[in-house]
Amino acid sequence: MRRTTIADFQKMKDEGRRIAMLTVYDYASALIAEQAGVPVILVGDSLGMVMQGQDTTLPVRVEDMIYHAQMVRRGSHKALIVVDLPFLSYATEQDAVNAARRVMQEGGGQALKLEGGREIAPIVRRLTEMGVPVMGHLGLTPQAQHQIGLRAQAKQVEAARKLLDDARALEEAGAFGIVLEVIPAELAERVSKSVAIPTIGIGAGPGCDGQVQVWHDVLGLFEGKSPRHAHRFAEIGEQMVGALSHYVRQVEEGSFPTQAQSVSMKPDVLKALES
Ligand code: KIV
Ligand code: NA
Repeated sequence: MRRTTIADFQKMKDEGRRIAMLTVYDYASALIAEQAGVPVILVGDSLGMVMQGQDTTLPVRVEDMIYHAQMVRRGSHKALIVVDLPFLSYATEQDAVNAARRVMQEGGGQALKLEGGREIAPIVRRLTEMGVPVMGHLGLTPQAQHQIGLRAQAKQVEAARKLLDDARALEEAGAFGIVLEVIPAELAERVSKSVAIPTIGIGAGPGCDGQVQVWHDVLGLFEGKSPRHAHRFAEIGEQMVGALSHYVRQVEEGSFPTQAQSVSMKPDVLKALES
């Protein structure tokens, strides 16, 4: 099967097929995602937190996005690969074009995701005209967290109207899809019906055209509480800890490695060595 295209992505909405998108940050994980049939990969700037251990996405650089996109690209042959442009890398149209050139040429991304609405529409238009498919991102946009916090957005009528307007502005500017993060389900459904391009929800209810989740959240890689919008489809972190403590114990007690993991010397060589 060939790689998912932007046209395939639109066709999924047109035919009423829901779109499963997942963040992936490296080669080994991309191989796994591919085996699982994930049609759309997001190399998200959430890598700042889950891969780099930072508190926010703000310190993530264009170089980091390129590095992770390259690894994902090597392990993925079928998915549409969308890459986030990081904080302040698309402040002006020229910045955006420069960042896009690097992420697409060096990183191998097929499409970019930018946070923001009507205020970034000229940038979305410019990139789109240059052949760069752009996905928008509205609602809880983590790059703006010092301004808007990390709470649900657009719960009141004015903010909800603004979000609807932002979605239309992104569509008019040529965006091929929009992530809706932590907004009321009713609003997300309304947005999904009022734009022709697919909406991809996270914490935005079941009424979107697709869903995006973070790798570590769906696989249960971190201990403790997951975000409310996430569901742990497995407890892989627990399994990893179990497997690794087993390994440590066996090395310490001398039951691993055994003859089965070893190479032997031919008897005549051994004899000569001992004489
Ligand atoms: O960076 C990210 O993982 C994201 C998704 C949560 C939408 O932007
Ligand atoms: Na992101």
